[in-house]
Amino acid sequence: MYFLNSSRLWQEYNIKNIVLKNRIVRAATNEHLGSVDGMVTDAYINMYKTLASSGIGLIITSHMAIDKNERADLTHICINEPENFDKLRLLTSEIHKTDTKIICQISYGGYRAIKIAGNNCMTPSGNDGTREMSIKDIEDCINNHVKTIRLIKKLGFDGVELHLAHGYLLNEFLDPFYNKRTDEYGGTTQNRYKIVHQILSKINDLLLDPNFLVIVKVASSTQDSEPLLLNDCITICKYLKQDKVDAIEVSGNDYKNYKQNIPYFLDNALKIKREVNIPIILVGGFRDKEQINIAIDRGIDLVSMSRPFITDKNFMAKLKNDEVSKCISCNKCFDVYKKLYKHCIFDKEIDLQLYENFSKNA
Ligand SMILES: Cc1cc2nc3c(=O)[nH]c(=O)nc-3n(C[C@H](O)[C@H](O)[C@H](O)COP(=O)(O)O)c2cc1C
Repeated sequence: MYFLNSSRLWQEYNIKNIVLKNRIVRAATNEHLGSVDGMVTDAYINMYKTLASSGIGLIITSHMAIDKNERADLTHICINEPENFDKLRLLTSEIHKTDTKIICQISYGGYRAIKIAGNNCMTPSGNDGTREMSIKDIEDCINNHVKTIRLIKKLGFDGVELHLAHGYLLNEFLDPFYNKRTDEYGGTTQNRYKIVHQILSKINDLLLDPNFLVIVKVASSTQDSEPLLLNDCITICKYLKQDKVDAIEVSGNDYKNYKQNIPYFLDNALKIKREVNIPIILVGGFRDKEQINIAIDRGIDLVSMSRPFITDKNFMAKLKNDEVSKCISCNKCFDVYKKLYKHCIFDKEIDLQLYENFSKNA
């Protein structure tokens, strides 16, 4: 039993002027509640209202597609579709009624967009039947990120999270396994980071805005067969700090870890915290209050969870009662990506919503 500072997770946490009422973050989770053409649905908004009313400090949305053709799947919400603007304004205003903060995660699909973009799917080096990005493609990608981040601010979100992990486009630039470019966007860590640097340098005003957070999700590890990435990741996190990002969410790409019910990226995250000294959000494997308090006591600032909230929308109440999440990391919820819809084995209500939406759209 761990007794030291056991209530830390309920303490407020401030970044800039943004006050988070506790240390719990709902990690970005694609619920597949968008419509088949990437539109926000009532089910999507209701799901977030339910999450917010459960008392979470900060919600990070499902990743939203910057470019409709770069979606990872059909139900991926397209943030730049004008038809979505009012719905997203409604989303942020509803969430703010509960005193929960909400950040929008954005991505370009990279090789994950191949199902939608086919031969035109863009990656840094054109691997596996994809198209190598030209300098013009890179410039467009930078400008589209900047335009989208400004839109996110206008829609009332408390910030943006750039998805630099899990094999999406910006992660592919950072990871030497995928990025084989020989120009200024490939090679050294600094070159591979250049596209992220160029996005951030164009939103300097927002980086200085005390009421808007710019955070990133990074991969602190990579798949088994690839070279170890942690030292490279630490260097990238130092660049991110120089570029004034407000916090770094530490994840990883070695998916074998995702079967564990312990915070499997804790050591990586603590190393980044020690070497970079920036607010750290840690995601992956948290299932109970004791694990959360230990991580916070050791130096993690915020704890982020995805699957416990898929298993139980009301997991916050369970945490208050010292109950352990029922999520056993069976990973059936990930199977929606394979178009073989498998539901969370514990939550019938949310399963039905997901199932109806998914079968309509499949
Ligand atoms: C169904 C599903 C969808 C996910 N969608 C996203 C996403 O949109 N963006 C993202 O960064 N991570 C996504 N993730 C990963 C989670 O944010 C998280 O990093 C991972 O599930 C490990 O945390 P956990 O053990 O708390 O589930 C998703 C996970 C699941 C299970």
